[in-house]
Amino acid sequence: MAKKVVAYTPKGGGYAQKVVAETNFCVEIPESANADLFAALPNQGLTAYLLLTASTQIQHGESVLVQGASGGVGSLAVQIAKILGAGTVPGTASTNEKLEFIRGLGADDAIDYTQEGWTKRVLESTGGRGVDVLLESVGGEIFEQSFECLAPFGRYIIFGSTRGPGQPFAPRRLMQKSQTMTGFYLPVFLAKPELIREGVEFLVKATLEEKLRPSIARVLPLSQTAEGHRLLEDREIQGTILLDTNR
Ligand SMILES: NC(=O)c1ccc[n+]([C@@H]2O[C@H](COP(=O)([O-])OP(=O)(O)OC[C@H]3O[C@@H](n4cnc5c(N)ncnc54)[C@H](OP(=O)(O)O)[C@@H]3O)[C@@H](O)[C@H]2O)c1
Repeated sequence: MAKKVVAYTPKGGGYAQKVVAETNFCVEIPESANADLFAALPNQGLTAYLLLTASTQIQHGESVLVQGASGGVGSLAVQIAKILGAGTVPGTASTNEKLEFIRGLGADDAIDYTQEGWTKRVLESTGGRGVDVLLESVGGEIFEQSFECLAPFGRYIIFGSTRGPGQPFAPRRLMQKSQTMTGFYLPVFLAKPELIREGVEFLVKATLEEKLRPSIARVLPLSQTAEGHRLLEDREIQGTILLDTNR
C-alpha cells in the first residue's frame, strides 16, 4: 500500500511529480497530514537542524544569532534553536515586516542588520557578552561585522554567501577570544546518513507535534517556477516558497 512520506533527495529532483528516494531518508507521515507543511523540512529544515546539532552541538541556555532569520532556513533555525533549549535567540532581517515575522517565530530580539550599529543591539540582547553560536549565510560586509557580536568561545558557522564571500579573513584572529569557525554544506552529510535520518525524524516529529511550525509564504504551480526564483532573489519571501508539481 502506498504511504505518504517526507523524503530527503540529495541529488535534487524535487521539481517533479515522481522522484526516487532512499528508504533510509524517508519518514512516514499520516495520510491526513498537510504535505505543504512538511515540504520545507528535508532541505531547509535539515540544514537548520544539522547546523545546531552536528556543526555545533548547542548546549542548554546558549545564545544563538540567526542571520537572515526570515528566510527558509533562518525561520526554521530560530524555532529549532528554541526547541533544542537555546537561551536568547536574536534574529536579523532587512525590513520592518520581516522583523515582525521573526518575533512571531519566537526570536527574543529582531534586529535590522541594514542599520549602522546593529551589532550593538545583539550585544545588548546578550548582556554585552555576544552570542555563543552565530549562523550566517549572508556574507558580504555582514561577515566582518558579525565578529563584533561573537562571544568568547563563540562558534561562527558559515553556510551560504547570498551577498558574496566578504573580505579575506585572517584565521589567527580567532585566537584572541578562543573562538571557532566552521563551514557547513548539507550534501557532505551523505557520508553520515544516520545524521540525515535522525534529522528528518526530528523535524517530522516536531512538526506533527506542532512544536515546529514551517512558514509557507507562497505555493506556486510548477509553470511559475521562474516567478518563485524572482521572489527569492528580490527578497520578497518570509519563510518558504513551494512549487506544487500537480498544478
Ligand atoms: N550550505 C548548505 O548546505 C545550505 C543548505 C541550504 C541553504 N543554504 C544557503 O543558505 C542561505 C539561505 O537559504 P534559504 O533557503 O533560507 O534562502 P532564502 O529563503 O532566500 O533566505 C535568504 C535570506 O537571506 C537574506 N539575504 C540577505 N542578503 C540577501 C541577498 N543579497 N539576496 C537574497 N537574500 C538575502 C534574506 O533576508 P533579508 O532580506 O531580511 O536580508 C533572506 O531571508 C542561502 O545562501 C542558501 O544558498 C546552504
